[in-house]
Amino acid sequence: MSKSLKQAAQHPEANPWYRAVYVGDEPVGFVMLSWKPPAGPYTGRHFIWRLLIDKHHQGRGIGRETLTQVAALVREDGATELLTSYDPGDGEPWPFYQKFGFEPTGEIDDGEIVLRIVFPAQ
Ligand SMILES: CC(C)(COP(=O)(O)OP(=O)(O)OC[C@H]1O[C@@H](n2cnc3c(N)ncnc32)[C@H](O)[C@@H]1OP(=O)(O)O)[C@@H](O)C(=O)NCCC(=O)NCCS
Repeated sequence: MSKSLKQAAQHPEANPWYRAVYVGDEPVGFVMLSWKPPAGPYTGRHFIWRLLIDKHHQGRGIGRETLTQVAALVREDGATELLTSYDPGDGEPWPFYQKFGFEPTGEIDDGEIVLRIVFPAQ
């Protein structure tokens, strides 16, 4: 998380937006988006830059609930899609994102596979 906050400070142009994830009073994770950055490849779009659930709390549906809440927030902001990317390899989070409805866009960004979910019209 400190690495993410440092990156956020180093990249103000990415318009970082971040929140801690709590279950009750307990901090269990962290999520950071690039929220409609004014420049760069994701200009004006919402991109999940980091999503981390503490390993003692993984596999309990908290990651999915976090995505659900983030998706609701970006839709309230008028978004029709949400993007992310992942580093392919052992333990990759692709099955997690696929179950939620993300699909590859076909782009590779800095070695990472870019995914997106398109929201149905409201
Ligand atoms: C990936 C991550 C965010 C998922 O959060 P989580 O709270 O463990 O996931 P959930 O419990 O909500 O899982 C939802 C579904 O995805 C599946 N899933 C979650 N992570 C998975 C993984 N790495 N591989 C395969 N399936 C996975 C779960 O089994 C569950 O499936 P089900 O609905 O069939 O039971 C979390 O494991 C994590 O922080 N991992 C390390 C960092 C990381 O990879 N972050 C994402 C890229 S930056």
